[in-house]
Amino acid sequence: MSSAEGLGAGTESDDLKALLRPEAAARVQSLRAADGRATLVLDATGLDAAARAGLEAHVRDALGGKVAEVRVAMMADKTEPAPPKGPRIIAVGSGKGGVGKSTLSANLAVALARMGRRVGLVDADIYGPSQARLLGTEGQRATAHEGRLVPVESRWGVPALSMAHLSNAGQAIAWRGPKISGALLQLVEGHWEGAEVLIVDLPPGTGDVQLTMLQRCKPAGAVIVSTPQDLALIDATRAVELFTKGGVPVVGVVENMAGYACPHCGEVSDPFGCGGAEASAKEMDVPFLGRIPLDIAIRREADAGTPTAAGTGPQAEAFTGLAAQVAAWLDANP
Ligand SMILES: Nc1ncnc2c1ncn2[C@@H]1O[C@H](COP(=O)(O)OP(=O)(O)OP(=O)(O)O)[C@@H](O)[C@H]1O
Ligand SMILES: [Mg+2]
Repeated sequence: MSSAEGLGAGTESDDLKALLRPEAAARVQSLRAADGRATLVLDATGLDAAARAGLEAHVRDALGGKVAEVRVAMMADKTEPAPPKGPRIIAVGSGKGGVGKSTLSANLAVALARMGRRVGLVDADIYGPSQARLLGTEGQRATAHEGRLVPVESRWGVPALSMAHLSNAGQAIAWRGPKISGALLQLVEGHWEGAEVLIVDLPPGTGDVQLTMLQRCKPAGAVIVSTPQDLALIDATRAVELFTKGGVPVVGVVENMAGYACPHCGEVSDPFGCGGAEASAKEMDVPFLGRIPLDIAIRREADAGTPTAAGTGPQAEAFTGLAAQVAAWLDANP
């Protein structure tokens, strides 16, 4: 058992880990404690359902008195048979909210489709879905076939599933963890037979949806989005660690809103700084996938449901460049 494992090692997380039985502690792949909440990823290799349940119960029991909330994710047994073949998932995540995950996911999917890839898009933001708007599929409703959801078609060759395709707009959703996970799985396990790759637009942070993603959906890779701001970069580092510790390779980090091109004079300025994501990626030893500039047209086109990547010009090319790297990564990591 190594005591230096886990995020935030040497702090509160070590104290929490010490509360576990040795055989349970040995299975801790990561343990993060913050704001009265402990988030653990456990290696469940070789455990049957009963043993997994016992392990989880012990962890909740042991830590429950110390923190207000305990979140547990079990990593799938590596020797288990592969899940039924479906599309490979590329999860798009960030630590911080509002950095452009959804915009980037939509444009990445459209750019991949333009390159001839069969791509689908899952909006995993259960509370704050945005893909129906970004793809111009607002008002369309997903149907069900043989108990599974049928994706909604968009004009861009990218079928999609979002909570917005299920619930009435504006309807308040106040679901707790298990129900959120259930909702996510319904979207991911829809009729995606026609897709080879599924772009999954995650909500911000490292909560239930991310854990379900790691635990149940086994993404092929993760793309992490950050703005050049220090705070966003720190959170991006956390997101990279979450995926890495969860056994999901990081395809790379994208710097969004990098450099602002003034629509009037054309002068490029750096409102949030520049280059930070590239430096962070280097530090974390993950690839840097490039920059998407801050451009009012990107926001305007996103709001209008006509993704920038469907058009022409330098910003469309920036998304194409990103898509080319993701496609190359998928091909190189079959
Ligand atoms: N490169 C860009 N240039 C201009 N505006 C952008 C760019 N990227 C994103 N935006 C705008 O920034 C806002 C936030 O983007 P978006 O919703 O994609 O972020 P997000 O990371 O998905 O947010 P959340 O964490 O809430 O899900 C949106 O209004 C979007 O149009
Ligand atoms: Mg979003």
